Amino acid sequence: MFPSPSPLHTLPDERWAARGVELLIKRDDLLAPAPNDPFCGNKWRKLQHNLLRAQAQGATTLVSFGGAYSNHIAALASAGQHLGMATAGIIRGEAVSNPTLAQAAGMQLHFVDRPTYRQLTATPTWRALADLKIFPDLDQAGTYLIPEGGTNAAALPGCAALARELLQQSSSPPTHVAVACGTGGTLAGLVQGLDGGSLALGISVLKGNFMTATVAALLQQYTGHTWPGWRVHETFHHGGYARSSPELAAFIQKFYARHGILLEPIYTGKLFYALEQLLEAGFFPEGSRVVGIHTGGLQAFASSLAK
Ligand SMILES: Cc1ncc(COP(=O)(O)O)c(C=O)c1O
Repeated sequence: MFPSPSPLHTLPDERWAARGVELLIKRDDLLAPAPNDPFCGNKWRKLQHNLLRAQAQGATTLVSFGGAYSNHIAALASAGQHLGMATAGIIRGEAVSNPTLAQAAGMQLHFVDRPTYRQLTATPTWRALADLKIFPDLDQAGTYLIPEGGTNAAALPGCAALARELLQQSSSPPTHVAVACGTGGTLAGLVQGLDGGSLALGISVLKGNFMTATVAALLQQYTGHTWPGWRVHETFHHGGYARSSPELAAFIQKFYARHGILLEPIYTGKLFYALEQLLEAGFFPEGSRVVGIHTGGLQAFASSLAK
């Protein structure tokens, strides 16, 4: 596994062809140590430099935070197993089991109430974790903390490398490169790697008009300046995080029937649905080459969608 570079190919579609616009997909979902491994897609891109840093620091335990359906938590658990490192996850809300957490095999999970979770994730520190006394064996030197969603300074270089890889693979450069946004870290890294050469498009999967400001703040914080060549669309959330709509569900089925590629309803389904809506609204000028990044996240959905 780990096909590198991850495949890039055109999605044949008469509606796109009729408007003179090419739609391509970058299959980062295939970038994984094993089929259906949650350590894939943007998780692989965002975690790789964090894991190198953790190893360079001599850390033995990786600790992070997430909701009960966090792809990041499942990916970190898997990464820890591949590297032989211990992992611990602080999970928001009451104890539950679901297919995503089932993937977090080998990870110590600890569920905390929402106020405690908010407090811990606002400024994640080893001291705050230690004060909770939930992981008695945790020692400061051996612990590497990764924020919720895996977005930190070390997450951006892997996503910038994705953009450069894509540019190298393209016979003619894409005009638009699009990705789904949760924390905005993947888009921030893409913007850096594209460096104004193609328009980076973010599709926010969350309700509310804050993603543009969030991405701008991440770029400022982690690169020290503002960047041209990007924008976020905030109206394709289908009701909010992990909410869906009959249109989205039908689109995902249709996409699978047409292209044989699975999307999931939380991120990549919303991304490709949004691209089709933008096409129909005339957003892409004739001659555009639009690349959608398949960021993975399928582990909890693959069996139900492929039926
Ligand atoms: C499959 C998938 N795609 C996209 C995203 C969004 O990435 P980011 O949080 O960096 O915006 C996530 C997670 O957050 C994800 O799990």
